[in-house]
Amino acid sequence: MQRQLNEQSGEQTKHGLAAGDVQPERPDWTIDQGWANYTVEEHAVWRTLFQRQSKLLPGRACDEFVEGMKNLPIGPDQIPDFRSLSEVLMKATGWQVVAVPGLVPDDVFFEHLANRRFPAGHFIRKPHELDYLEEPDVFHDVFGHVPMLMNPVIADYIQAYGQGGLRAKNLGVLDKLARVYWYTVEFGLVRQADGIRIYGAGIASSFTESVFALDDPSPNRIGFELDRVMRTHYRIDDFQESYFVINDLDELLSLAHIDFAPNYERVKALPDYQPGTVLATDRVLHRGTGRHHHDKNPGAHA
Ligand SMILES: [Fe+2]
Repeated sequence: MQRQLNEQSGEQTKHGLAAGDVQPERPDWTIDQGWANYTVEEHAVWRTLFQRQSKLLPGRACDEFVEGMKNLPIGPDQIPDFRSLSEVLMKATGWQVVAVPGLVPDDVFFEHLANRRFPAGHFIRKPHELDYLEEPDVFHDVFGHVPMLMNPVIADYIQAYGQGGLRAKNLGVLDKLARVYWYTVEFGLVRQADGIRIYGAGIASSFTESVFALDDPSPNRIGFELDRVMRTHYRIDDFQESYFVINDLDELLSLAHIDFAPNYERVKALPDYQPGTVLATDRVLHRGTGRHHHDKNPGAHA
């Protein structure tokens, strides 16, 4: 699972725990990664995940992801040391990776991003749960997110999300902003010369979804449009029913620099869309069959 908003209540988000659930040692919730404490078994889980994902991603991950990965000290042998990652990242885009014990409260999360610190879970999933995660672990956060943070556009975009997060929270529209993050940073697809590619960390770090998102006939693949995405619920318990496709990473650069306030104003008064809905106004690249989700829940309406 990824950092996500609880769509039902719109109150507590799953960037985090509700403040008060757990008492952090430091006010910014960071901890030491404790790299020397990883066990042989934990490094082995990393290796398994790294190797199977590395085989899958050529021809699927976007060029910027591949480029970022190439220039980082991330390899199959061991869980990366955040200090080494931060050294390289800092030189490239001014970002660093900080360790956190798991989910953190929203305002803490936004504060980190606004200051170009990416909070990464320091723990790794267990060998028997390679494809199931309740909280983002070091593989999701490092393998999925950090390569894209080497890219200047994504670097600016995620910082802008942090800056916009607190504002959106105060305006009572955090659910709208969180959907934008979800359908870009976590589950975004991008058009490249040779086809649609992955840039979202939730897909890039998932063995099953990196195939489903690109190749499966079930999900919709729709051209990204800001207001439309702000109004669209997402799945937190399964693959996405719709993926939104940007034409170029530079499309995110313009999003990093505009004020979302007029968009919030517009969409606040309008109804939300269900994850699988396709609109007449959508720029549909692929109209999904919906089969995956239908087969799991035959009684449900699309
Ligand atoms: Fe994530």
